[in-house]
Amino acid sequence: MSSSLLSSTTRGSSKQMLPFRPVELAPLPIIDLSYLNHQHSLCRSIMLETIGKACKEMGCFQVINHGISRSVMKEALEAALDFFESSADEKEALESNDVRKPVRYGTSFKDGNSESRCFLKQYAHPLQEWIPFWPTSPPHYREKMGKYAVEVRRVALQLINAILESLGVDTANLNNQLEGGMQVMAVNFYPQCPKPDLMLGFPAHYDYGCLTILHQNCQGLQIIGVDGEDWEAVPEFPGALHVHIGDHMEVLSNGRYKSVLHRAVLNPEEKRVSVASIYGFPMDEKVTAAKEMVDEQHPRRYKESSFRDFLDYIDINDITEGKSFIDSLKLTNT
Ligand code: OGA
Ligand code: NI
Repeated sequence: MSSSLLSSTTRGSSKQMLPFRPVELAPLPIIDLSYLNHQHSLCRSIMLETIGKACKEMGCFQVINHGISRSVMKEALEAALDFFESSADEKEALESNDVRKPVRYGTSFKDGNSESRCFLKQYAHPLQEWIPFWPTSPPHYREKMGKYAVEVRRVALQLINAILESLGVDTANLNNQLEGGMQVMAVNFYPQCPKPDLMLGFPAHYDYGCLTILHQNCQGLQIIGVDGEDWEAVPEFPGALHVHIGDHMEVLSNGRYKSVLHRAVLNPEEKRVSVASIYGFPMDEKVTAAKEMVDEQHPRRYKESSFRDFLDYIDINDITEGKSFIDSLKLTNT
């Protein structure tokens, strides 16, 4: 897909429509991460080229052989489902509309029920700092979700490095910041819905961080396809994780890789849980285009911004109503 197909003119409110028609499966590349660590440098450079092509053309891909065991993956989804199906008390205790709270529960039943999702947002790095605020019920939640959080962070750092390398960006300076960066997990629950054409799970939006890794129990995530108009379903391969580019990778790459517009639809056959793990820079770190991405022919295209700036933005703008943080960062002279 030409990356320009997701440029500002095709982004936003026109993509909020409900999924009236059956959609095609997105032809996403499947990347075998074991090759990234291969001793043979040719293997690694072929992998970097494949990752770069996927990021440029689609903004997303799937990964296998990422090193997270099937049991850790399965138990994270079980813990998520058990939390959503546990008694209302704990959920109510965590419920908040304050976007700055590090751990909060919420629901989005909108517009006379045209949207249906429950979510738990939780900061996850450094884990020891945040885990005391995570749910205590079910009793195994912290342990199981915590194990997954640590593992998926390792994969995210590996992927962010590979993506930056695919752009030719020197990662040495960025690594320190990324090591101490934000990890926010959005744990989502979507009810089974016999009429998924009448109701969305999560309307179209972009994720703010550098990268999102999504783990789902069944199909439901959709992205805009190569034509820049039609939604395509992200396939669910057992053991694979879905990866997509977020706003801050678009900024770092100075627009070479684009943040991916995506949404979640409801599943007619089963209730759906997903864990979207978002990775970015530390809370107050201002992110701007990498120096290698800027020259006379490629002037800086985005304002600098931090995670805190994103929180300030979503505090007053609804990103599920066609507003997007990345558009607010675009400099008008480019
Ligand atoms: C998110 C998200 C999609 C899904 O949490 O940001 O896009 O499939 N989730 O749950
Ligand atoms: Ni998202």
